[in-house]
Amino acid sequence: MNPSLLPSKFWLLLVSLFLIFSTKYVFGNSFLSCSYRPSCGSIQEIGYPFWGLGRPESCGYPDPGFELHCNRGVLEIRIKDATYGVLEINNSSEILTVSRIDYGDGICPTPLINSTFQNSPFQDNGSSIPIWLYYDCPTVPENLTLTPLVSNPFECSTSDRNTTGYYVKGDFRGTPIGDYLGLCADSVILPLSITEVGLFEGNRPDPEALEEAARLGFDLVWSANDTWCHECLNEGGECGHILGTGDLICYNSTSSPGTSSFYLRYVC
Ligand SMILES: *[C@@H]1O[C@H](CO)[C@@H](O)[C@H](O)[C@H]1NC(C)=O
Ligand SMILES: *[C@@H]1O[C@H](CO)[C@@H](O)[C@H](O)[C@H]1NC(C)=O
Ligand SMILES: *[C@@H]1O[C@H](CO)[C@@H](O)[C@H](O)[C@H]1NC(C)=O
Ligand SMILES: *[C@@H]1O[C@H](CO)[C@@H](O)[C@H](O)[C@H]1NC(C)=O
Ligand SMILES: *[C@@H]1O[C@H](CO)[C@@H](O)[C@H](O)[C@H]1NC(C)=O
Ligand SMILES: *[C@@H]1O[C@H](CO)[C@@H](O)[C@H](O)[C@H]1NC(C)=O
Ligand SMILES: *[C@@H]1O[C@H](CO)[C@@H](O)[C@H](O)[C@H]1NC(C)=O
Ligand SMILES: *[C@@H]1O[C@H](CO)[C@@H](O)[C@H](O)[C@H]1NC(C)=O
Repeated sequence: MNPSLLPSKFWLLLVSLFLIFSTKYVFGNSFLSCSYRPSCGSIQEIGYPFWGLGRPESCGYPDPGFELHCNRGVLEIRIKDATYGVLEINNSSEILTVSRIDYGDGICPTPLINSTFQNSPFQDNGSSIPIWLYYDCPTVPENLTLTPLVSNPFECSTSDRNTTGYYVKGDFRGTPIGDYLGLCADSVILPLSITEVGLFEGNRPDPEALEEAARLGFDLVWSANDTWCHECLNEGGECGHILGTGDLICYNSTSSPGTSSFYLRYVC
């Protein structure tokens, strides 16, 4: 008997078996790990396009913006520089209701951070308006009258200084009020739900009104180019993506690896 033939066939067989089983293992495992639906606080059964909370990144839409965290029972998402609490996820309208975590317990957080959504998968959908907050403002000039669109003053205290701020609805740049507000040391843009900005009607609003409105949150619509994934989910599959390439992938529960796109792409 040829002494080298048997070992080479043996190794070929072993490598083939390894490829088949490892593929099956990876494939089955992806379906299982992506079918995990974590909950956090009042938000139940979190699924695609989100990941985090034990759902691997490969189980979400290929954009790091869809990562969620659960922080002591509060579902959180980071969009650009700011962290938001997620109050509601509506899958069918693809709307996320969020509120700024740092404005949850006061109008004077540190550091001061703008809410921005450029280059993120989340966008304002016309249901919020930006409120401008001005911090550390000089005394109002005697000949300047503030309109009801400028709030009553609020105080921010640090260990060494107390400062005065205002929040305003609308853009006053190029007007005497805008010139005055431009002298304030800092400004922040904060979206509020359109249903809450009635707080500017009638009397000039007080800081408590803004805190209340900030806690109620506002809507953001998410955009993902993933029609194909909806078909996958509707047919009982789990959608995700291939890390690195960002290609969407449908993990099917019962399919054999021999017919899956995963197998075709990576093993053949
Ligand atoms: C949203 O859709 C996914 C995928 O169909 C589903 O698993 C999940 O339970 C739904 N709900 C939430 C809150 O994500
Ligand atoms: C999701 O949004 C749709 C369309 O706006 C609405 O009809 C539906 O009631 C919402 N679902 C939940 C659970 O709020
Ligand atoms: C809000 O989102 C819905 C669904 O994505 C869209 O049909 C509608 O035109 C959007 N409204 C605005 C004002 O952008
Ligand atoms: C208010 O008074 C200042 C000087 O104290 C002057 O520079 C400014 O133009 C005045 N503004 C208005 C709106 O009259
Ligand atoms: C800031 O204001 C508080 C109360 O309004 C006062 O007790 C404190 O002494 C003030 N701090 C400074 C540095 O003025
Ligand atoms: C927020 O944005 C405004 C307008 O772009 C800018 O003037 C301001 O400095 C920004 N504030 C912070 C804290 O980054
Ligand atoms: C959406 O994805 C498809 C492939 O999955 C691609 O051909 C198309 O260009 C994408 N569209 C946008 C707007 O990115
Ligand atoms: C997996 O599901 C997708 C979407 O339903 C389907 O197009 C594909 O053929 C399925 N793959 C296998 C191997 O069954």
